[in-house]
Amino acid sequence: MMANQVQVNDTSTMIKTIPYRLYTEPQVLKEEQEKIFARSWQFVGHSSQVQKQGDYFTCEVAGEPILVVRGKDDQVRAFYNVCPHRATKLEKKEEGNKKILQCGYHGWTFNLDGSLYKAPNFKNTDSFCEGEACLRSVRLEMEASMIFVNLDDDALPLAESYGDFFTSLKDVEFLGELKKVWEKKRVIKANWKAFIDNYLECDHCPIAHPSFVATLDMSQYSIVACENYSVQGTIVKPDKQYGSVELNKAEFQGGRFYWLWPNMMVTIYPGSGNMTVIQMVPIDHETTLGVYHVFFRDENLTQEEKDLLAFMEQVRDEDVELVELEQIGFRSRAFKEGRFSPTEHGVRQFHDMIREALDIKA
Ligand code: FES
Ligand SMILES: [Fe+2]
Repeated sequence: MMANQVQVNDTSTMIKTIPYRLYTEPQVLKEEQEKIFARSWQFVGHSSQVQKQGDYFTCEVAGEPILVVRGKDDQVRAFYNVCPHRATKLEKKEEGNKKILQCGYHGWTFNLDGSLYKAPNFKNTDSFCEGEACLRSVRLEMEASMIFVNLDDDALPLAESYGDFFTSLKDVEFLGELKKVWEKKRVIKANWKAFIDNYLECDHCPIAHPSFVATLDMSQYSIVACENYSVQGTIVKPDKQYGSVELNKAEFQGGRFYWLWPNMMVTIYPGSGNMTVIQMVPIDHETTLGVYHVFFRDENLTQEEKDLLAFMEQVRDEDVELVELEQIGFRSRAFKEGRFSPTEHGVRQFHDMIREALDIKA
């Protein structure tokens, strides 16, 4: 689990957080969409969602409509979900299975590899079957059964973008067996970065999460900053348990909580195989859609798994309340920025990356 650590900038000027205006100004989000979300790998789904040829799902990345589909050659591809004829959004449903993709406006049809099949309002389709008349493709890569897309054709390959993150997952032997069993979306009245900040430190845990600190040994809690990601965790106190089921001593690892630049989190708790992928997707500069994808081995949850879900929900509710209160303060004229404690180095890493991406000196 221990990864190649990176040094977080430790000079005195960096003790301050990024300016609060970055949480409250609409034009900052526009810049972030362009410079951060359109240039980073974004998790869009799990391989179990496109198991059969023709399986597809739609999503949004950096405000762009995206379509992911498994072709007749078994390759999973991503396209802009936009018709090349006159821009209509092609697939409207969230998921399904299709032999051919059809635009609902003038009936152009496309093969699952994105090539044009027929354009009924053009007599001769031959000249359309290449280039402009095909769906516009988007880079897609899969690691550890997770599907990512990147709108930037020049971005580093996925496996090279996050240091040894994917290698560190190799000892999680159940990853390939997981199925998406639950998805929850919730609207959070705070800037997307506020929730990432909250996730990246546990100074607030003793105050805000009594059940969390009652279960985990906080004296052993650590956060390790790695290349474009960080990992945090500790061990479970020997006499404690998650939910109602006693953990066996061999599983006294308290789980691992990853963050991946810019807005993705992966949590793996001990006990039966589980993983939650969390994304903070900006709706506007002061509103965020929290998307929680929960994976277990089976849709029929055991009592232990139901207890774990309830435990995660409770911790999440506690965090959402805090970041919504924080957003009120970001808008105030009282302070222009905050300060980092020595144990908030995970947040400092995130803020250093925000400064670099947006070219901010303060
Ligand atoms: S806009 Fe799609 S066929 Fe015309
Ligand atoms: Fe928290």
